[in-house]
Amino acid sequence: MITTLVREEQTVKPDIQVQKEEVFQAKSFNLWYGEKHALKEIDFKIAENEITAIIGPSGCGKSTFIKSLNRMVELVPSVKMTGELLYRGKNILDHKFGVEELRTRVGMVFQKPNPFPKSIYENVVYGPRIHGIRDKKILNEIVERSLQGAALWDEVKDRLNENAFGLSGGQQQRLCIARCLAIEPDVILMDEPTSALDPISTLKVEELVQELKENFSIIIVTHNMQQAARISDKTAFFLNGELIEFNKTSAMFSNPHDKRTEDYITGRFG
Ligand SMILES: Nc1ncnc2c1ncn2[C@@H]1O[C@H](COP(=O)(O)OP(=O)(O)OP(=O)(O)O)[C@@H](O)[C@H]1O
Ligand SMILES: [Mg+2]
Repeated sequence: MITTLVREEQTVKPDIQVQKEEVFQAKSFNLWYGEKHALKEIDFKIAENEITAIIGPSGCGKSTFIKSLNRMVELVPSVKMTGELLYRGKNILDHKFGVEELRTRVGMVFQKPNPFPKSIYENVVYGPRIHGIRDKKILNEIVERSLQGAALWDEVKDRLNENAFGLSGGQQQRLCIARCLAIEPDVILMDEPTSALDPISTLKVEELVQELKENFSIIIVTHNMQQAARISDKTAFFLNGELIEFNKTSAMFSNPHDKRTEDYITGRFG
């Protein structure tokens, strides 16, 4: 009876169009490293099952912003934040918010592939093992599913027990993506995930990112304008800690509203 009621309530949403929910929303979000005001009054919404690109010149706060989204930025002791950062409607800056839970929902892939000095298999099962999964059959399934998801399975299925350092850079990066998928996150944060890769590996990771958005929400920092234009649905342009412009990628690249965005994407500065 109760479930019927809940279902009915859920179906009487006022929206007629199918609106995507937002995974994250920043509201007047500010961040300081000591005296350095690194992010200023950031306000925007990040929708689910989309690829959101974050662009802007070096030092503008891109990494700081995405590291705020899983609260990794707090590993820097001098950090102070104000405003709100909502993850699925809950303020993650609230001291009651569980950071461990957040980090299992919001995975991260870094600029340089950083596999552990362990076998390919052990890299993928690392997170699930921490979460207490011991059953070998389940772990095997997770390994296959995650490596499939990261478009790496066919290349490594016969060498799962070999050290991950024996993989190429592009394969290592896809292994790091597989490691991230293994914990079944909701959002994947990527900080320049292809900047250390050759063009072919870059294309593979780009294709992969586009496939992943079916099931995940992806926020990707990139210095590569073509990459942002090719793969993202929306783009946010940061400059000196401010969010200057946020729009559909096609609109931003064809008709930027702010002169500074135009100068940046046409290569006049940055
Ligand atoms: N741990 C830190 N302590 C103090 N200041 C920092 C720290 N990390 C970053 N900053 C400063 O905050 C600002 C934003 O840095 P951030 O790393 O977010 O930039 P970015 O846009 O990712 O740059 P890049 O494109 O070079 O990676 C910079 O001025 C930087 O010097
Ligand atoms: Mg950075």
